[in-house]
Amino acid sequence: MAKLDNIIVVGLFWGDEGKAKIIDYLSKAVEIIIRFQGGANAGHSVEIDGKRYVLHQVPTGILRPEKQCIMGAGTVINLQSLIEELHTLESQGIEWRGRLSIDPRAHIVLPYHKQIEKIFESHHKIGTTIRGIGPAYSDKALRIGIRIGELSLGIPQIEKKLDQWIKNVGVLYSQYYNFEFQSPRIVAKDLMESMQFLGNIVIDKTMYLDEIARTKGGILAEGAQGTMLSINWGTYPYVTSSETIAGGSAESLCMDLRLFDRIVGVSKAFCTRVGMGAFPTEGDENTQRKLRGSGEKDTDEFGATTGRPRRCGWLDGVVLKNSSRINGIDELALTKLDVLSGINPIKLAVEYKSLRFNIPSLHSELENVEPIYENFEGFNGNITEIRNWEDIPKNAKLYIRRIQELSGSPVKFIGVGPDREDIITI
Ligand code: GDP
Ligand code: IMO
Ligand code: MG
Repeated sequence: MAKLDNIIVVGLFWGDEGKAKIIDYLSKAVEIIIRFQGGANAGHSVEIDGKRYVLHQVPTGILRPEKQCIMGAGTVINLQSLIEELHTLESQGIEWRGRLSIDPRAHIVLPYHKQIEKIFESHHKIGTTIRGIGPAYSDKALRIGIRIGELSLGIPQIEKKLDQWIKNVGVLYSQYYNFEFQSPRIVAKDLMESMQFLGNIVIDKTMYLDEIARTKGGILAEGAQGTMLSINWGTYPYVTSSETIAGGSAESLCMDLRLFDRIVGVSKAFCTRVGMGAFPTEGDENTQRKLRGSGEKDTDEFGATTGRPRRCGWLDGVVLKNSSRINGIDELALTKLDVLSGINPIKLAVEYKSLRFNIPSLHSELENVEPIYENFEGFNGNITEIRNWEDIPKNAKLYIRRIQELSGSPVKFIGVGPDREDIITI
């Protein structure tokens, strides 16, 4: 049998680009889907036959029954929300047992992390998802986090570690902000109970993945969030706490990254952002309303994790070019083209005044850039049934060609609706 491609899929903007839909499509031709960073801050949605599935921690590959899924070493795991997510999937007819594993090196998101994040957000607002992601990654960097594999050491050991955490770190918060953390005894017991429910799910598959990548192929590394939310390359400090770009997959994949055959970058046909931070092409009220939708449709621009209305604007070609470059993308997937139908003109930012094709490292500088737009004549009608490039309206083709030019990579996939089948491949 011919070797399957090993693929990395990443978002090119501020998350919610429609990665899940593209990953679901590409999953047909791979065997293993591994989430490489982030945690329950993600919301990845796919529609199948009118039924909607929203994944937060579980890799999107779970929606295809024969595929194996791994939550990689670079992810942070909230066991309680994972169990809730699995219950929901079960109620939707998805069998996960025997198909899902977690790398023992993945860090646990403790209830303490959420409490700390709430305090931070009240002083230093980022507009996070309050899923404890930042504090969990901070503990990892401080080397006081608990890895999921450590739960096999038993309750007394975990209690001891939690006690140490309270003494060394927790006390700083509880004394200063005058609140109490849940007792380590209860937290340790809850963690163990969760593990009992999950069964034998913590498995080190690094050697196996290496072997598969070299022989049969068929590994898909699923990114969460997006390039502009990268802790290193995003709009710091208004970012998430992990490395979201293709290179970030090294956090979860203990293997030669040259074994990847393709890197696919996902972009919407316009831009969105949730939370605070620079957004050069953010639209005026009227534009935002048109791009966001009223909220009546599941796919209107309201967060899959927090329900917050997403900020909307025109596609930013400067960010697109930069993100395509730093991820080294081979192929571009463009989602939600159907949403632009009826909007006239469609604007596309092609450079920033005086900065041209450069994303400044200073957030305050990016906040003040002035995008230069090209106007594209709009197109009309319902394009959701279209499956061939030839049938796409002429004006939409002109827009896509310009996007391709700015990205420097070919558009290989076009989303024309939320369903798994609503896709044009080129
Ligand atoms: P992700 O986090 O990148 O996986 O994206 P989300 O799932 O958070 O957000 C993308 C939204 O757009 C979801 O509501 C999807 O169901 C929807 N979606 C994805 N692709 C398309 C498309 O081509 N057309 C339309 N109308 N909706 C889409
Ligand atoms: P998916 O995988 C969109 C944003 C939050 C906030 C910032 C930091 O669905 O694309 P965090 O909770 O990570 O500390 O929040 O990042 N954010 C996302 N925005 N999609 C996501 O994930 C996001 N995950 C985090 O809104 O601005
Ligand atoms: Mg999302």
